[in-house]
Amino acid sequence: MRPTIRAALGAVALILAVPASAAADESVVGGKPVRPSQSPWAVALASHQRFGEQRSGQFCGGVLVGHATVVTAAHCLGREVLGLPWQEVKDLRVVVGRNNLTAKEGQEVKIAKVWVHPHYNSWTNEDDMAVITLQERVPNQPIQIAGPNDGVYEAGNTATVYGWGDMTGDGSYASRLRSARVNVLRDTVCARAYPGSADGTYNAASMLCAGEPKGGRDACQGDSGGPLVVRGQLVGLVSWGTGCGRAGSPGVYTRASALLPAVLTHGAG
Ligand code: ARG
Repeated sequence: MRPTIRAALGAVALILAVPASAAADESVVGGKPVRPSQSPWAVALASHQRFGEQRSGQFCGGVLVGHATVVTAAHCLGREVLGLPWQEVKDLRVVVGRNNLTAKEGQEVKIAKVWVHPHYNSWTNEDDMAVITLQERVPNQPIQIAGPNDGVYEAGNTATVYGWGDMTGDGSYASRLRSARVNVLRDTVCARAYPGSADGTYNAASMLCAGEPKGGRDACQGDSGGPLVVRGQLVGLVSWGTGCGRAGSPGVYTRASALLPAVLTHGAG
């Protein structure tokens, strides 16, 4: 089954899931809670109507790259996740400044405009990116998108992925934001892992992959659209993968530098 379909079936919350064996040395599932305010640019996409009241209606992640600009994965705004076109989700919101989704802190901000990459391909997962313009500027600190030639994209770098969500893969969603450390991998390794299957096809131009040789720490369904960060800069958005935390099946991310033209054109700054 395609990850996005699984995500929809799983009611799409974020998860940082790992096999039970790997879970032991980290907190619950390969990640650990993030201190509130440590990652003010990590935001949640939410709809109370579609996903319930309990966890603020969270269904995907997103990243504040300007005071009124959020980037996320294109597939988060697709039918497979939302069940209907995003235009018909009347209470689509971006939740900012809320580490604990069961609390009321921060704001649920309305959306002024959505741009989804016109070439997003739900089969290969190519160009899995979207830019959301908020109806108002928020005070929370945005993160910088790393430029294409920045060394932060180099294989071997330690990256941190952030997300809320299912901590076991069976529907027990985290209330608080969690993070997990993963290694940026070589494009040749990513391409070998994903030469093309029903899950997707690796393409270095718009993707990057990260994981651990033995598996373990990873992003998972529901983390989509959320940030992958190296040295304080955004390098990726959670996009897809085969399973979660499996050896030989790293997490695949939308390459953040591929977002730059779209953010300049469609973002609000
Ligand atoms: N497509 C998933 C989502 O909608 C994200 C999957 C990421 N998977 C991984 N193994 N890193 O949330």
